Amino acid sequence: AEYGMIKAEARGKVGLITLDRPSALNALCDQLMTELGQALGAFEADPAIGAIVLTGSEKAFAAGADIKEMKDRTYPAIHFEDFIGNKWETVLTIKKPVIAAVAGFALGGGCELAMMCDIIIAAENARFGQPEIKLGIIPGAGGSQRLIRAVGKSKAMDLVLTGRMMDAAEAERSNLVTRVVPVESLVEEALKMGEAIASYSLPSVVLAKEAVNAAYEMTLREGVRFERRLFHSLFATEDQKEGMAAFAEKRKPAFRNA
Ligand code: HXC
Repeated sequence: AEYGMIKAEARGKVGLITLDRPSALNALCDQLMTELGQALGAFEADPAIGAIVLTGSEKAFAAGADIKEMKDRTYPAIHFEDFIGNKWETVLTIKKPVIAAVAGFALGGGCELAMMCDIIIAAENARFGQPEIKLGIIPGAGGSQRLIRAVGKSKAMDLVLTGRMMDAAEAERSNLVTRVVPVESLVEEALKMGEAIASYSLPSVVLAKEAVNAAYEMTLREGVRFERRLFHSLFATEDQKEGMAAFAEKRKPAFRNA
């Protein structure tokens, strides 16, 4: 499909979505978020795709929600349209793994969007922050909740209350990102990771993601029980039989996502 503010293309088994609104550092306006939702939905439905990479430009992953679009909105208007809830959380409904490849600014809603993804890889020039406090507001797309789970209370408070930016090295030290790579190789590294994930059996990949995400919402006891149910259910797949037979026969498995 053709979009105006993003690009979406298949790279092998990986769906690559590039935020492409350079005039506003990929500020996340309504149109962009609508298109992002459509592209995510299309890759989710495409059986040839096993993982998704979401990236921006070298200068900005996304500099936040679109401030100019938000500035005159009133309380009743944003409340009744469910601003954020109605468009921003599509990525949370995607079952396939979504990797955020972040170069440049990931601020406010941009940082929150990255945190909604399953894995964040950062380029050396990445800058993360929740600068909403400088605008007289607070994070509104889960920033206050997801940041603390990633980096702990002291650093989350530091970032949310001062609005300062954190560089890639600090983001890696504080476990917000899995690793840092040179800017030039960011997308390539993310695609490689996506390709590795997409080479496995999709039913197991989807349940692995679901199990890890459950840890956000459940007690340890409930989470382990939930994991056990998912684990057992994979023995109903052909790919479990194939994966284990291939190991025993010293050959590569041929997964069929079945
Ligand atoms: C609208 C934005 C924007 C944004 C940048 N632009 N960020 N427009 N919304 N969030 C626009 C600028 O107005 C400018 O347009 C162009 O992009 C280039 O930006 P500059 O500021 O000229 O670039 P630079 O000097 O390099 O500074 C980069 C920056 C700065 C430090 C990232 O742009 C900045 O502070 N942006 C706002 C960051 C922010 O506060 N984000 C949180 C937003 S609130 P023109 O037309 O002048 O060239 C939020 C709430 C989330 O995200 C709640 C849930 C969704």
